[in-house]
Amino acid sequence: MSSEEGAPLVLVSNRGPVTFQEGGEVKRGGGGLVTALTGLASHRDAIWIASAMTEQDIAVTEEHGGRPFVAELPDGGSYKVRLVASDPGAYDRFYNVFANPMLWFIQHYLWDLSNAPDIRREEVEAFEFGYNVVNEDLARAVLEEIEGQSEPVVMVHDYHLYTLPGLIRRERPDVFLHHFVHIPWTQPDAWRVLPTKIRTEIYEGLLANDIVGFHTRSYRRNFLQCCRDLMDLEVDFERGVVHCPDGHEVWVRAYPLPIDAEQTRAVAKRPRTAEFEGELLRRRREHLILRVDRADLSKNVLRGFTAFDVFLEQHPEFRERVTFVAQLMPSRTDVPEYAEYLERIEAVVAVVNHRHGTPDWMPIHLKLRDDLEEAVAAYKNYDLLLVNAMFDGMNLVAKEGPLVNERAGVSILSENTGAHEELGEFALSVNPFDIQELADSIHAALTMPREERERRLDGLKRIVTQRNPGDWIDDQLADIRKKERANDG
Ligand code: G6P
Repeated sequence: MSSEEGAPLVLVSNRGPVTFQEGGEVKRGGGGLVTALTGLASHRDAIWIASAMTEQDIAVTEEHGGRPFVAELPDGGSYKVRLVASDPGAYDRFYNVFANPMLWFIQHYLWDLSNAPDIRREEVEAFEFGYNVVNEDLARAVLEEIEGQSEPVVMVHDYHLYTLPGLIRRERPDVFLHHFVHIPWTQPDAWRVLPTKIRTEIYEGLLANDIVGFHTRSYRRNFLQCCRDLMDLEVDFERGVVHCPDGHEVWVRAYPLPIDAEQTRAVAKRPRTAEFEGELLRRRREHLILRVDRADLSKNVLRGFTAFDVFLEQHPEFRERVTFVAQLMPSRTDVPEYAEYLERIEAVVAVVNHRHGTPDWMPIHLKLRDDLEEAVAAYKNYDLLLVNAMFDGMNLVAKEGPLVNERAGVSILSENTGAHEELGEFALSVNPFDIQELADSIHAALTMPREERERRLDGLKRIVTQRNPGDWIDDQLADIRKKERANDG
């Protein structure tokens, strides 16, 4: 069985571990998926196939003639990657019209029926001539890499690549396909926004896998429900199995992603982190509230600021004693909803700062950038970490923050994050839509006795250090071997 033999693991995702900047600088890819897989790819023999996402990525891909190469990061990481440059028009439709606005929105319940998207020719074509083209391009690269291997294992990642498994299975019936979905799986009705034909292609693609993995048991349940209700398939909720009409079985599993504690602690010790800490400490007030996120609608940034506004209104004794640092990384800015969201964030911050600020106190510090050391410096020093996503696959900030926090900081955690299944007991759980509850929780956190804060933080630290990404991948490989045996038998 090839999962036990020496062949390299084949990983495929849209975003890869590295991206190239103007001037040739190499940068680590952002987001939870890359964080999850980099540990794996640097510790095991793996080849990581991903899209060339920027013009510079495309130039580098061409330099390498589309073949695999080793990419070195300035912080020492090194990965064997193969970047695939799709036609730019197709890629634009794939990323900016279908995968992000459409699938991401469906899978985070970002629409209600009153603002659901119009499906017109543009959206349908974005699927046919965008989403499917990029999936075909990446599938071709995978097929080339596994050529000559018997029963190879391919690990597919996330919502960008739902139709890819079907394409690979068609050419290579012997392949073992494991697909991990890093974002929530929503209930059946959320999927009814998509035209039946597109929805069916997506589910058929996914059901070509041997195993489909999610962060939580509730996403796993939703997926099984979708297969039953939307695809009319027989499912076994207890065993987590979908029975396809041709006899093929798909195992559906939950593998909650842990953080790489060692790596985060190492970042906490870097001199550059200390520099940011110095700056933060010079400017800090009695209490520091922190949030670190991509500037994504699902993260619920606006309600977070509104709750802070309500808190200051209802507890004026906290004015000038608390600062809210929001480090937000601009994301997917070619998607109109995201660009508009950034503008709304800036507008709300201006309103709150104007309403409560004084000549020497600015309530909210908005930092629109992605800087790991700056974020970790703030993790060490917050009194309150705010994670109030409307829906979030896992949320690694909720795990990394407490790991390195040194101030008995309290976590406010949305009950709709994947991380809540593990951390809920020691965080202040909130319904992310309830602004008053959030404002009350801010007050509760900032007035909580030290002993109670320490008890909660210790609990969080204990949970987030119990497992590491190596365990995460080992669990998946163990299931792969089990299922390979079941397939053979
Ligand atoms: C989430 C998704 C990833 C994605 C990341 C960053 O974590 O699950 O697949 O890579 O966001 O988003 P981006 O669009 O910049 O790749």
